Amino acid sequence: MSSNLDHIYPVFDKMLPREAKESLLSQRGVVVWMYGLSGSGKSTLANLLERRLHGDGRLVKVLDGDNIRSGLNQNLGFSDGDRFENIRRVSEVAKLFVESGIITIASFITPTNELRKLARETIGDDDLLEVYIKASYETCAARDPKGLYAKVNAGEVKQFTGKDSGFEEPDRADLIIDTEANSEDECLAQLLAAVTGKARLPTS
Ligand code: ADX
Repeated sequence: MSSNLDHIYPVFDKMLPREAKESLLSQRGVVVWMYGLSGSGKSTLANLLERRLHGDGRLVKVLDGDNIRSGLNQNLGFSDGDRFENIRRVSEVAKLFVESGIITIASFITPTNELRKLARETIGDDDLLEVYIKASYETCAARDPKGLYAKVNAGEVKQFTGKDSGFEEPDRADLIIDTEANSEDECLAQLLAAVTGKARLPTS
């Protein structure tokens, strides 16, 4: 039976090893995968975390749903199949970054446990910190940073997560950040502590 992998000859053993890049950067690559509803605080925390780690001399890259969907994934919408393809591609991209020793912050709704498992299996447990950014639909709708929830209420957005497209509570997470119960500073401190441990960064 033929497949897309027929006549493809991946060569990994001749590539400069990941350790050489990590040693150059004096850091260990790790993916911080943040998932949660639109408006839960993922992008805000991803950007705060990136700036903080950058300030400490770390090389960090944020991959964010809206940004990636305006470029690499601009041919994808919000059907279950397109969300799967979105997460599949982004997981592969995150893996490429982490293999370059980069601290990679992925910020995607990732609405189902199946999609979270896909990311985990692609990236691997050792390199992944799974973080649920928790806030209720009502809170996200009240914050409405992009005016999207107002559009949803006006019937202008279809397949919206938490409304007419599902969002599953996680069946596992390395860390749960409750952005309703904690201040921005508290959320950032919790994230930093977890990343410092996972990436084995020196504590100051
Ligand atoms: S995911 O479900 O495939 O993980 P992703 O994180 O990439 O979603 O994109 C979500 C972002 O797209 C939201 O933050 C929001 O700004 C925008 N968006 C536009 N339409 C929708 C929709 N129908 N459902 C959810 N988010 C949407």
